[in-house]
Amino acid sequence: MNIILDRTLDTPLYIQIADQIKLMIHEDFLHIDDKLPPIRKLSEELSVNNVTIVKAYQMLSDEGVTYKVRGSGSYIAPKPEELMAEISEFDNAENHSYNLRSTQYDMPEDTINFATATPKANLFPVTDFKKAINQVLDRDLGEAFGYQEAKGYSSLRASICDYMESFSVRALPEDVQIISGAQQGLDIIAKALLNYNDAVIVEAPTYSGAIATFRSRGVRIVQVPMLIDGVNVKKLEELIKRYKPKLMFTMTHCQNPTGYSYSNKKKETLLKLAETYNMYILEDDYVGELLYTKQIQPLKAIDLNDRVIYLKSFSKILMPGLRLGFMIVPKALNQSVMNAKEATDISTSGLIQKAFDVYLRKGHWHKQLTYMKKIYFSRYQLMLKMLDQHLPRGVNYYVPKGGILFWIELPKNRDSRDFYEYVGQKKIAIVPGDLFYYSNVKSNAFRLSIAAVTEGEIETGIEALGDYLRTYLSEKKQNILPIL
Ligand SMILES: Cc1ncc(COP(=O)(O)O)c(C=O)c1O
Repeated sequence: MNIILDRTLDTPLYIQIADQIKLMIHEDFLHIDDKLPPIRKLSEELSVNNVTIVKAYQMLSDEGVTYKVRGSGSYIAPKPEELMAEISEFDNAENHSYNLRSTQYDMPEDTINFATATPKANLFPVTDFKKAINQVLDRDLGEAFGYQEAKGYSSLRASICDYMESFSVRALPEDVQIISGAQQGLDIIAKALLNYNDAVIVEAPTYSGAIATFRSRGVRIVQVPMLIDGVNVKKLEELIKRYKPKLMFTMTHCQNPTGYSYSNKKKETLLKLAETYNMYILEDDYVGELLYTKQIQPLKAIDLNDRVIYLKSFSKILMPGLRLGFMIVPKALNQSVMNAKEATDISTSGLIQKAFDVYLRKGHWHKQLTYMKKIYFSRYQLMLKMLDQHLPRGVNYYVPKGGILFWIELPKNRDSRDFYEYVGQKKIAIVPGDLFYYSNVKSNAFRLSIAAVTEGEIETGIEALGDYLRTYLSEKKQNILPIL
């Protein structure tokens, strides 16, 4: 093995060895299931003590970079981009994420913003919500400002059960947990279920907010490649066997960022695997209402063994600043999830919960949903037409079944971060694909969102994007990725 040790450094030798093995994997000199040299052989080769190699191998195994086979030795675990190896320099990726958020706020006024997945404030149903708040205040007076049950306002939990019946999900109010937004739901599930060093499976790519949450718990994040009909289930089973994850995080419809949706067959496989390997599935249904072809059932609707935690955000259809969402929690997790919620913020704002209950019961939610769906559908159709007309050859896109996101793929040897910087200067905001991976991989894809662009902006923006792509692909030949 081509390992060079520098004995003048403060870094212990075993860390130098482990780091160089990681580098060899990263640079493709070592591959999945390759065997590492026997301890004695490597210690002789490097003129170090056996214990140094044992410590290096142990470190690699603890980090999930390698796996051990009893009586045989250490082998390379799946590639870094499929895993969580420290070499992924996730901190780097996280900084990108924060930079990107702040650039979204700081961007010049005339930027066409295909980056944000949050609707513009002019679509928010302020008048109806104001009426709901006033009604609660007139009815409950000071009571409106008291603490709520940690689980949530009981009348709202009952309304939510009625609402979920239209998605074929039958839940009892006692299984509903109100949360202050889906992001908090992720955090609460991580707190209730995961301990330091536990493994969690995420799709690759996935929602970057989920990566940030899991990372904050110090859990091992294992990525499984996302395909157009759901994750690679063969790979998933292999990873489950190897890492014994307690949880898998998934978006079964119109996944963020790809827009891909699971086939029924893959949904059934997920449930089977969860049952066989004693794993929970956290299903983030952030745009289930926005399916434009036909309504598709969430995983929770076919969850006969109570393995699915269903997570719902209202941010894409209602108002993100309400900080309101809910989960439907398997009975076995009910208490621990409620405890985690209580430890986090005692309860979600009583006034907002009560107002939303009135809003739901009076049919305003349904009205808002119909209104938003019409707007998004019209943008969606226009977007498909414009992408079809203006994307140059070699740039592909996927037609999602609904939602607000489009996943655009440059030729395989291109880095979308480079293109993101290029079009950013031309005042078009997009999100580069690397942001949605845990490991610090380069991605040739980028995400476009229609949440905050007008139809006029879609027309001018996509036409311009097509032109910039053509210029970029012909001029910027130097920015070719070295490894595909
Ligand atoms: C997939 C996904 N899940 C969860 C969230 C967080 O939603 P909330 O605003 O309800 O916290 C978002 C927000 O962008 C999202 O895209």
